[in-house]
Amino acid sequence: MKIAVINGSPKGQVSVTMQYARFLQLKFPRARFEYFDVAQKINKLEGDKKEFEKTIRRIKSANAVLWAFPLYFFLVSSQYKRFIELIFERRALAAFRGKPAAVLTTSINFFDSTAQIYMNGICDDLGMKYFGAYSAEMNDMHKSAERKRLAAFGELFLAAVRKNEPAHRNYPAVVAKRTAFQPGRPKPIKAGGKKVLIIADDIEKSANLKKMVKYLRESFSPAADLVQLKDIDIKGGCLGCMQCGMDNVCVYEGKDGFVDFFNNQVKAADILFFAGAVRDRYLSSSWKCFFDRSFFKGHTPALKGRQIGFVISGPLGQITNLREMMKAYIEMQSCNLIGFVSDDAGTSGQLSAALQNAAGRAVDFASRGYIQPPTFYSVGGGKIFRDAVYSRLRPVFQADHRYYKEHGFYNFPQKNYKWRLINNTLILLLKIPRVRREFLKRMKVEMTRHFDRYIKKPKQV
Ligand SMILES: Cc1cc2nc3c(=O)[nH]c(=O)nc-3n(C[C@H](O)[C@H](O)[C@H](O)COP(=O)(O)O)c2cc1C
Repeated sequence: MKIAVINGSPKGQVSVTMQYARFLQLKFPRARFEYFDVAQKINKLEGDKKEFEKTIRRIKSANAVLWAFPLYFFLVSSQYKRFIELIFERRALAAFRGKPAAVLTTSINFFDSTAQIYMNGICDDLGMKYFGAYSAEMNDMHKSAERKRLAAFGELFLAAVRKNEPAHRNYPAVVAKRTAFQPGRPKPIKAGGKKVLIIADDIEKSANLKKMVKYLRESFSPAADLVQLKDIDIKGGCLGCMQCGMDNVCVYEGKDGFVDFFNNQVKAADILFFAGAVRDRYLSSSWKCFFDRSFFKGHTPALKGRQIGFVISGPLGQITNLREMMKAYIEMQSCNLIGFVSDDAGTSGQLSAALQNAAGRAVDFASRGYIQPPTFYSVGGGKIFRDAVYSRLRPVFQADHRYYKEHGFYNFPQKNYKWRLINNTLILLLKIPRVRREFLKRMKVEMTRHFDRYIKKPKQV
């Protein structure tokens, strides 16, 4: 049995993910694993059609596919994303159709879930028999229980391939509606001294996006600035080398224009709009590259305090996962979400109104300095980063450690001595039946009593 391991790490074989794939190969020597370093070789695969076709032919000859990749910003790396785009662009779907597929990710468990949902959707779109996904925390291999678990997953997957188990689609096909946006004339809103920047990947690739961006620009007075990623000199995707971890200096610095663009233009804006068209189940790989390359800022909220909105052409309403990723990104950056405007909802009139409204809200929010309160995304995500940077990631991400220390990110509950004392005393007292009875009786009232100092009691009627 031949398994095509499609490797999503830009580091090629010297990658954490590939150690997990090799572990499976060693466990199951009767299956023959063939590795395809498509993320590392993306330039070759994109530039050389013959090389791409050769890769696809070899994948086609396999009995099953293992999509093995590291998490990069809620998803796969931009290089892997580009490979997926090429499969659709170059109509190579037949090599995948009907083939059993499994997903293996390595990460620090920060939004591994959204990446797996994305990949499940891609497998469904390719007509593959999706078996399931395995999320390995990058250091799991050191634990014998985790090695056992991974081996069990491998065994179950190989058995499913042997039995030619059927699979049903988890995510319905995304259907693009094509209604041409016919904008009216916007009424420009005074930006009140706020710097407004719209970043798009390439507005020429989508007629609607181009019109939406133009309308939004002109909804501000003075008109918002526009930068297109295609005009920035970006030599390539993030290499995952992590050299930036020490001092936030990217290996590409001085070699291409991304770092200057990010530091001097993106960070200089008070209000940002990210504009793009849906590509498969995300935005384009160029947009993904923007996020990945911003990794030189490590796990710090580099855009803290900005207002950020999204202008998206395409069936955003059918891809909740994309919305989730973007919302979580905004929160992790300590930014405020202006909202999403997409051409898949409503008429041209409604779309114009939504764009106009987004401009107005952006200025209002920015003037008030309003940032939404954190939700599960950043409360949960923040704890994952906090613990990782404090412990095993610290030697590599020293710049993060300095930032976290300076900005009070190390808010471990163990440090809350007052509550440790109260809790211990309470737990002890609650062992006394009479105290416990009284406690349970008064619990509801006591839970609201300490708010009394901020709130006037409503009059009893
Ligand atoms: C640019 C970049 C983005 C990352 N984004 C995430 C992420 O969103 N979630 C996560 O859990 N880990 C993230 N990681 C950590 C990697 O997924 C993790 O270290 C992985 O095991 C690396 O695998 P590799 O050596 O095979 O490339 C990121 C790492 C890099 C370099």
